[in-house]
Amino acid sequence: MGLSDPISEIPRLGVGLSFQDTLSNFVCEHLDAFDYLEVVPDSLWDDRGRGARPRYEEKQAFLDLLGFVAEHKPIIGHSIGLSIGTDDDIDPEHVEQIATWQKRYQFPWHSDHLSFNRLDHASGHSIDVGFTMPVPYDSAVLDLLASKVDTMQRRVPAPFLLENNVYYFQIPEQEMTEAEFLNRLTERTGCGLLLDLHNVYVNSRNHGFEPREFLEGFDLTRVVEMHIAGGLSVEGAYLDAHSGPCPEAVWDLLDWVMPRVPNLGGVTFEVFSTYYPKMGPERLLEELARAREATADHFAATAAC
Ligand SMILES: [Fe+2]
Repeated sequence: MGLSDPISEIPRLGVGLSFQDTLSNFVCEHLDAFDYLEVVPDSLWDDRGRGARPRYEEKQAFLDLLGFVAEHKPIIGHSIGLSIGTDDDIDPEHVEQIATWQKRYQFPWHSDHLSFNRLDHASGHSIDVGFTMPVPYDSAVLDLLASKVDTMQRRVPAPFLLENNVYYFQIPEQEMTEAEFLNRLTERTGCGLLLDLHNVYVNSRNHGFEPREFLEGFDLTRVVEMHIAGGLSVEGAYLDAHSGPCPEAVWDLLDWVMPRVPNLGGVTFEVFSTYYPKMGPERLLEELARAREATADHFAATAAC
């Protein structure tokens, strides 16, 4: 990618917290516990649909909170509204809304999910399936994604990342492995990777593979951010539930990956809103401290090279 590759100039931020509405008090009371706040912008506004004026109704309480946090910490956008794997044209109003938020909060990078959640219904309306569905790793999908990534990169002046997805079933007869697909996508577009280690762990448990061998196939120099989280087992399946502390196996995976991600900007802990009250602030502080220690060691080692 050369010296002009923006991924190589990513700021080393440290540990991030993924914002959820039940974390509002925690965020205000424990600003020192994290180095950046990651937000899902789409969860902080109401989308009234294409063509509506105004289309996006932003929620004032969240704007007030983000205004306060932005005085102290970087804010990063992690959207879910692009639905990049849906076989349609990119939604220009969504792109403009993300661009508005990137300009307002100066996201140093931003991301979305390598998945789709929007489908056309027989009624003519589009519906949200409420889940990030995996895309087939095929050439046609690669072309579709590359075009949309290009649009995001042209319109939003910050590095754009895509996050590896969780999947609970295998799509048959795919042309490429996940690693081949992501490597071709990042090479072709110059986009970065948001490597969700818990997603890798979930997939490895449910589909029976070794996560280190799996990650050895990735171009890990494209990793700008990593996600860690906890999950739970239900009737033989392990779910990406974001339900509490990170499993020891994911901490071990984080230690293994760290020396292999030279362009890392941060590690973000995710817990869903409904599970945070059960986890509680002390346990969350412990998780953030452990993640901060791991990233600080990595940044110190990188700086010494
Ligand atoms: Fe994630």
